[in-house]
Formats: sequence, C-alpha cells, structure tokens
Amino acid sequence: MVLLAGILFFLPAAYATTFSTERFTGAFDSESGVLRSLKSSLDPAFDFSPYDVFANRSGNGHYHTGDLTLRYRVGNSNGWIDADTVTNRVPLINGNSSHSILSSNLDTTIGNVTKDRLFITRTWTDYQGDLALNFTLRNGNTQSIEIGSLGLPIEFNSIFTDRTAVETREKCVLVDPFIGLQAGYVQVTRLLGEGPHLVITPLNLYTKLEAWRFLTEATDTSLAYQSQVFEGNYEWQIYTKAYADQEWEGVEPWNPPTSLVLSSGESISFGLRFTAVSSVDDIEPTVSSLGHPVAVGIPGYVVPRDLEGRLFVNTSLKVDAVNVSPDACLSLTPLGLESSSWTGYTIVPNEQVFGRCRVELVYSTGLKHTLHYYITDTGPKSLANAGQFLEENQWFTNTSDPFGRAPSIITHDRSVNGPVLQDNRVWIAGLSDEGGAGSFVTAAMKQSIQPVASEVSKLEQFVNETVWSRLQLTNGSTEYGVRKSLFYYDPNAMPDYDYDPDIYWPGSWDKDAAYLLDRAYDYVHVSALYWGLYRAGRIAPSVLTLRSPKWYLLQAYQTVLFAFGSQPDGSANTYYNDLGLMGETMWMYLLEDLRAENYTSEATKFEDIMRDRAQAWSTQEDPFGSEQAWDCTGQEGVYLWSKYFNYTATVDKTISSIRGYMPTVAHWGWNGNARRYWDFTTAGKLSRIERQIHHYGSSLNALPMLDHYRSLFDPTAQLSFYDLRIGYGGNQGPTTNVADDGFGSMSFHSFPETLAWDDYTGDYGPGFLGQVLGAGTVLVKHPEFGWVSFGGNIAASSSGGNDSVTLQPRDTVRRKVYLSDLGLNIEIDAGAIDEVRTLYGANRVEVDLVDQADGSGAVPATRAAVEYTVTSVSAAKDIRLVEDGLTKGKYGWEVKFVSGKGTVVFEW
Ligand SMILES: *[C@@H]1O[C@H](CO)[C@@H](O)[C@H](O)[C@H]1NC(C)=O
Ligand SMILES: *[C@@H]1O[C@H](CO)[C@@H](O)[C@H](O)[C@H]1NC(C)=O
Ligand SMILES: *[C@@H]1O[C@H](CO)[C@@H](O)[C@H](O)[C@H]1NC(C)=O
Ligand SMILES: *[C@@H]1O[C@H](CO)[C@@H](O)[C@H](O)[C@H]1NC(C)=O
Ligand SMILES: *[C@@H]1O[C@H](CO)[C@@H](O)[C@H](O)[C@H]1NC(C)=O
Ligand SMILES: *[C@@H]1O[C@H](CO)[C@@H](O)[C@H](O)[C@H]1NC(C)=O
Ligand SMILES: *[C@@H]1O[C@H](CO)[C@@H](O)[C@H](O)[C@H]1NC(C)=O
Ligand SMILES: *[C@@H]1O[C@H](CO)[C@@H](O)[C@H](O)[C@H]1NC(C)=O
Repeated sequence: MVLLAGILFFLPAAYATTFSTERFTGAFDSESGVLRSLKSSLDPAFDFSPYDVFANRSGNGHYHTGDLTLRYRVGNSNGWIDADTVTNRVPLINGNSSHSILSSNLDTTIGNVTKDRLFITRTWTDYQGDLALNFTLRNGNTQSIEIGSLGLPIEFNSIFTDRTAVETREKCVLVDPFIGLQAGYVQVTRLLGEGPHLVITPLNLYTKLEAWRFLTEATDTSLAYQSQVFEGNYEWQIYTKAYADQEWEGVEPWNPPTSLVLSSGESISFGLRFTAVSSVDDIEPTVSSLGHPVAVGIPGYVVPRDLEGRLFVNTSLKVDAVNVSPDACLSLTPLGLESSSWTGYTIVPNEQVFGRCRVELVYSTGLKHTLHYYITDTGPKSLANAGQFLEENQWFTNTSDPFGRAPSIITHDRSVNGPVLQDNRVWIAGLSDEGGAGSFVTAAMKQSIQPVASEVSKLEQFVNETVWSRLQLTNGSTEYGVRKSLFYYDPNAMPDYDYDPDIYWPGSWDKDAAYLLDRAYDYVHVSALYWGLYRAGRIAPSVLTLRSPKWYLLQAYQTVLFAFGSQPDGSANTYYNDLGLMGETMWMYLLEDLRAENYTSEATKFEDIMRDRAQAWSTQEDPFGSEQAWDCTGQEGVYLWSKYFNYTATVDKTISSIRGYMPTVAHWGWNGNARRYWDFTTAGKLSRIERQIHHYGSSLNALPMLDHYRSLFDPTAQLSFYDLRIGYGGNQGPTTNVADDGFGSMSFHSFPETLAWDDYTGDYGPGFLGQVLGAGTVLVKHPEFGWVSFGGNIAASSSGGNDSVTLQPRDTVRRKVYLSDLGLNIEIDAGAIDEVRTLYGANRVEVDLVDQADGSGAVPATRAAVEYTVTSVSAAKDIRLVEDGLTKGKYGWEVKFVSGKGTVVFEW
C-alpha cells in the first residue's frame, strides 16, 4: 500500500507493465518500476520472480530486484546518510526511450539524496536480447560525494510459504553469490535442478561484487520473512566501506572494503545483466561467454597442508598480477597449458597458515577477480585433533548431574570453553537430536577411521553408563528406544535444579516431551555410535575393553530395527522413518557388516525394511520430505536405497534435485555448500535464520553426488565433471569446521557482520559423518586440464605414451581411490592407501598400503581387507585383483601388513 496525502490506497495486484526481449518476457511494477515477473524463452511457463505473491509484499520495507540502497556523505562530513528506494515508496514517473524498456528517475523515492543533489536514474534495457538493469548516479553538488555503500537487492522466488512440496520444487529457486569482485556473479537455480536457471553478471567494470548483504525487511506480511519457508533476500553490494566502518567493525570481510568519491559534476553507472542458462553445468560456460573470467579449482578451494591443488581460469585476458592475503598463504605457479582459453596454476599452501586465504587475480584490463581458499591441517591430523578435543574438552564427568548426562561427550561452547549444560533448545544440552548427539557422533565416526585407545575407552564408558541405561531404554517393549533429550525444562519434575533465569524457557520441552522415543532421526545417531565402536574394534581389536565388536554391531542393528518397529498396540515407534534420514548412509555399511559377520537373517530383515521405504519413494512425486516444509536432508537416504534397489528414475530425480541447491563457485564457503539456513536456530549458539556455510548438508549431499559420479559412463563430460566438483566441494567443506585445536563448529556464519564459526559444536556430527564416509581420492584425465586429482597429489606422470601415473591420496581417510579413466574403484577397511601407481604399458595398478595414515596417531592396523569394483565407464577394462599373497577373510581379500606396509596389485 502507499500513503498519498494521508489517504491509504491499495494497489491492484495486476498493476504491472509488461516487456519482452529476445530471450525474456516479464513485468515491472507500474509505480515502483521493480521487477515483478521474469520468464525465459527456454521455458515461458516458468517465472523466476515470486509474481504470485508480489501484492503481499509490495509495500514499504520489502525489497525487490530493481531497488537500490546506498550510504553516502557529502564533502568532509563524517556521518553516513542512508537512503534507499524501499523505505518510503512514492509512485514514479516512468519513461521510455529508444534504448530503454523502462526508465525512471529515482529522486522522489530515495529519501535524502535530492537535497544533497545526488541524482539517480534507473533504466531497464534490452541488452543483446537479455535483460539489463542500469543505475546512473550523478553528483550535482558543488562538493564531492563519497558513496560508502551501494547495494542492488536481488529478489527471486525463494518464497516457499503456503506452497506444497511439489509446488515448491516446481516453482521456487535458490539464489547464491560468487563474491569475486568484478568477476563476481549470482546464480539463481531451480529447486527442480533442471533449467532454466539464471545468472546475474556485472554490466561493467564498476560493478564489482564486494559483499553479499542480508536485507532485513518489514515483517508485517503473511509471508513470514526470515523463517523456515522464506529465508529472505540479499543484495549485491558494490561498495562496503560504510558498513565495514560501523556494523562490521572487527570482522575480516571477504574483500577489502572500498568506497567511491564522486567529484562534483561527475556521473557513474552500475548495472547487472540477467541471462538464462539451460542447465547447471552451463552456468560457468555462460558466464565465460559473457566475457568474464571463471575459475575452476581442483579439488576445490579447501586445501589441506599436504595437498598440491590446481587452478584453471577460463579467460582470454592476461593475468598481470596475483596477490594473496594473508601474505604468502598460498603460492601459485603457472602451468604451461597448451590448449585454448585456460590459464593454469599449481597451488601450494603455506604450512604455517591455517584458515582463510584470499587470492586476487588482476587482469590486463584492471579487472580484479578474487578466489577464496581455506587451508586446513592434513586430513589425518584434522581427525586426530578432532578426536583429541572431544576427549579432552568435551568429556563431561559430573555424575551428580541430576539429568544423568555423565559421563558423556557433550556439546561444547567455545566462547566459555565449557560444556553446554542448559539451553532452551533442551536437546543441545541433552545428548540427542542432531544438536546434542552431534559430538558423540563425531567421536564415534572418528574411531571408525583412526581408533585411539583412550578415546575409545571413554566412548565405551559413555555407552555403558549413559547411553545403554538412560538415553536408550534397556528392557520391555520399548527396549532400544532413544529419548529425544536427557535434559528438559521442568521445575516440577526437577524442583531443586538451578535453571538459569536468564534463559527464556517457555516452550522448552518438559520431562515427558524430552523422554519421548518417537523421532526417527535420533536412531541414526545412536546406531552410528555403536557402529563406530564396532568398526574400531574390528580394525584395532585391542581398543575395546568393555564389550565385543559384535555386541556393538548388534546394538546398532537393534537400534535401527526399533525405529521401524511398533508397540504391542500397533502404534509405530517413531515418526519420520518413512523419510530419508541424515547420516543413514552409515546404515549401508551396517548392512554389509551384518552380512560379513554372518548375521544373515538380521541382514535380510534390515534389507526388507529399506526395500519398503525405497518402494514407497518410487511412487512419490516429491519423496524428499523432512520435519520441515522444505529441506535437503532426505535426498541422501532416498538416493542410497533407491540406487540399492534399482529405482533408477528416483535416483535420477534425486541427483537432479541436489544440483538445484549445491553450487560450485570459487569460494570455500559456497563451493558444494548445500543450502541450509535455519539450523543455527536449532543447534547454534548465535541463533538466527541465515545462509549457513558448511552445515551438514554439504557432506551429506556429497555422498550421493560422489557415489553417482562413480556410476557415470563418461566421467569427463561437462555435467559429470560438474557433479564431481560439487560433490567434492561438499565433501571437503566440513573439514574446515575443525579448528586448528580440533574444536568442531556446527557451521560458519555468512552474514558480513559476523563471518565466524559458531561457538557451539551443536550438530557438526552428521557433517563429520558425511565427511569421513565420503572421503576419497579421484583421478581424472581431463580433456583440457590433463591428469588431475580430486584429493590427491599426482607425483609423476610420463607424458607422450601415458606410461604411468602415480597418485598419493591426501583426503582425510585415505581408504578409497577411484581411477575414473579405468573405472577402477578401490576401497580398504583399515590402514591407509599410501600410493597408487597405474602402469598403462604393463596393464597393471599397484597400490601401496601403510598401517596408519601419516599424522593419525591411531592404533596401527595389522591387516586390511580390499574391495574393488569396476564401474561402467566407457573405457573400463577387465580388471582383476591379483590374489596371490592375499588371504580370503570374512571381509574379503586381506593383506597382512609387514613392517607396517603392504601392497595390492590389479591387472587387466
Ligand atoms: C517503450 O516503448 C516501446 C516502443 O518504443 C514500447 O513497445 C514499449 O511498450 C514501451 N515500454 C513502456 C514500459 O512503456
Ligand atoms: C535520511 O537519512 C537519515 C540518516 O541516515 C535516516 O535516518 C533517514 O531514515 C533517511 N531518510 C530516508 C527517507 O531514507
Ligand atoms: C547505462 O546507462 C548509462 C547512462 O545512461 C549509459 O551510458 C550506459 O551505456 C548504460 N549501459 C548499458 C549497458 O546499457
Ligand atoms: C497473499 O495475499 C492474499 C490476499 O490477501 C492472501 O489470500 C494470500 O493468502 C497471501 N499469500 C500468502 C502466501 O500469504
Ligand atoms: C570458456 O570460455 C569460453 C568463452 O571465452 C566459453 O565459450 C567456453 O564455454 C568456456 N568453457 C567452459 C568449460 O566453461
Ligand atoms: C557398566 O557399568 C556398570 C555401572 O554402571 C558396571 O557395574 C558394569 O560392570 C559395567 N559393564 C561393563 C561391561 O563393564
Ligand atoms: C554362518 O552361519 C551359518 C548358519 O548359522 C553357519 O552354518 C555358518 O558356518 C556360519 N559361517 C561362518 C563363516 O561363520
Ligand atoms: C540391481 O541391479 C543390478 C544390476 O542389474 C543387480 O546386480 C542387483 O542385484 C539389483 N539389486 C537389487 C536389490 O535388485
């Protein structure tokens, strides 16, 4: 609504001016001139804009594409003045000319600026068949004007409110930035994963993407801004100094903050171009074809200290300078690339550096392109640090705790360096739900890879004294039931407990609510705890002192079984067990281990349960449900079992869906970062709706992507390579959550006023689980880049005849290698793969194993079982394991380590 001379008018919903270009049709709001509708000729039925709810949020305080925000100051004045087209909308006089579709003078609607003689016009133009948005600022003042912030709000249809799951998937999009200065762009991808999608690129060199700022809006609508169904809108920020000086003070921004001083009489224009693309893997080629440099980092933008990465930039421009910050955090060495449009570098991290590292490429035209890297400890050392931190700092021993939480591995609050014993989200302090179970899941999964006796011993104690007694019930029809929280807010049940009066308690679970057994998700966590201990005992028998590996395996099995069972009265034990559950990829390992340990009838029963779920999913249009209206947690389980039971159409639909919310851009925070935005409110210390960086969605969605990659016929096709990149980025992402001392944060805050890891460990567990289950090294012979490895170092490769390639895994786990050119996938269950040599001339692959990964500090393995598959790649060979010297054990062919080493050979 607008306020005109004191009278309230409601604008009619269809008050729009339509337009068309060669590749778009759409509509602007007739009065404000902002974008209301945008449809591409690739699919004229699909609207990128939330056209159908525009009227619900068309008043003051709601941002749309075409709006403008700024902060400026005149002459030598100190204070910044805020202005925008949103706070106080006034109907505009819109014009039209030969080179614009719609042209508006913003002076009347942009608050303070006219009195200061800053004049702003906006034009929408048909730009080579695309749509362009162009703002011109003119300084009509006698003094200079400094622009300390200039923001272009971006609104597309990310509004899920009141839509069914199917409608959301069909109609909605997600918006994600590449915060790369003049090479920055924004991508708008459909949740369906299928195109058309949209890219938004800078119209000129002035239009850099310096920051991506969340826009707070008026909340006076039915659309629940900043909620689970409407995350909110962000803006493309060209200058940021005025924010960096104030709201963001003390924060290290993604890019150095700048401002613009506009001299008296001077004008400048900024703008964006909107271009449709037909599929996700066309996003980068399209950005390139519009004249912008595009970077492809391999394996991505997270670099462990012992990894040598690669960087390829698709550009015809010459790179004049490479600047890195902090100083020398990475070194870039040019690669001589014969081909085409690509400039290549090897990337070597500085061993003294940990954390963020910014690379700025400066091209001959002056264009600046920033890439955002993160340097981590080596993989095995990161796991070792995480295990040690959990053991030393998260071991809660106060056995007088009236909630019975001791002993346990409990949620940690970094800001006070202590346990979280009270929180109104009671599960965080109550050892269940992702937010409270996360830390013990991390601890257990760590032992499944790198068992350390003292760490395992604490976990066994935790199981014996706290889990298998209180967190889980131990007899009767509810035996194996898992409580939703051991902690609760219930002054009646706990009259003597000192509940913190500073916490807002209304709505927190009381004892009855906390002790319910009905949340299926919680069964994954407890089964992962048991399974991790089973695996630790299997690969390092000396570490278990209380129970046998088989006891833990059967506990894991029974825990899963309960989640799918019912009570004598027929009522189901849990809710949500018909949905894909976070971390359930671990159940596939559990199933295989039941078979290996000869629990045949148990395995059959387990399989029957999973078959029923997969069968049900195959009949659903949108099988990706969760507790939330929209989510990206179901895809992992849906993919897993649909693939296992050969529901190919569901598998394809699932992979497509993941492509819709998992971007690849040259930024460690967004690369492979599946969209998550509400779990700071369920498991974080700083609780707010915010785009999360590397919450568990990254590594959990990477599991299907990476598995899917191993089934592709052409592993170097553009889309295949794209899938590998988002999968690998998603897998690596959650390695950055582990700090140099081993603290594992639940996720990183992306709002520019924060840019920091959350202080709670919270629900990092599922992210860690996905990380270690998905970890592996992939070798690819890329048509333009040559031999490259995701997660490994290529130590030698003779050119010409392609005689041999030597690969050294540098991923966290080092037990899985995929040689994509041969279609050979190798996995071991203990120790580590040290080196893989492919000898093409001799038709032979030699795999050197060691009894522990360098830096792991784990109990060395005495043997390793080897499993392998030959996938269906076009060049697959008839490869066989050479069995001489191996022994056939219950887990497969086994190598005995002699002096800590072993070798396995494959031939074709
Ligand atoms: C602008 O002018 C062109 C013809 O010159 C016309 O087709 C178009 O509809 C006009 N647009 C608006 C918003 O008035
Ligand atoms: C004008 O600037 C002041 C100071 O920044 C701000 O409080 C006020 O909201 C602005 N007015 C408009 C209409 O933008
Ligand atoms: C943007 O507007 C300015 C000022 O009218 C003009 O000079 C420039 O060519 C426009 N840019 C595009 C791409 O239309
Ligand atoms: C939008 O507004 C209309 C008309 O007031 C209302 O019927 C509808 O429920 C609103 N939509 C949403 C999603 O709130
Ligand atoms: C590289 O850039 C060119 C345009 O310069 C573009 O045509 C090509 O598709 C790009 N390649 C990739 C793989 O993005
Ligand atoms: C488990 O803990 C209880 C005490 O809670 C102890 O009596 C029992 O011996 C322990 N079980 C094992 C197998 O050590
Ligand atoms: C597996 O169990 C079956 C039946 O219980 C038994 O006959 C068989 O010997 C067992 N195999 C091994 C390897 O333990
Ligand atoms: C799925 O198909 C594959 C290949 O056709 C087959 O080997 C496998 O047994 C099938 N799996 C199931 C569970 O039916």
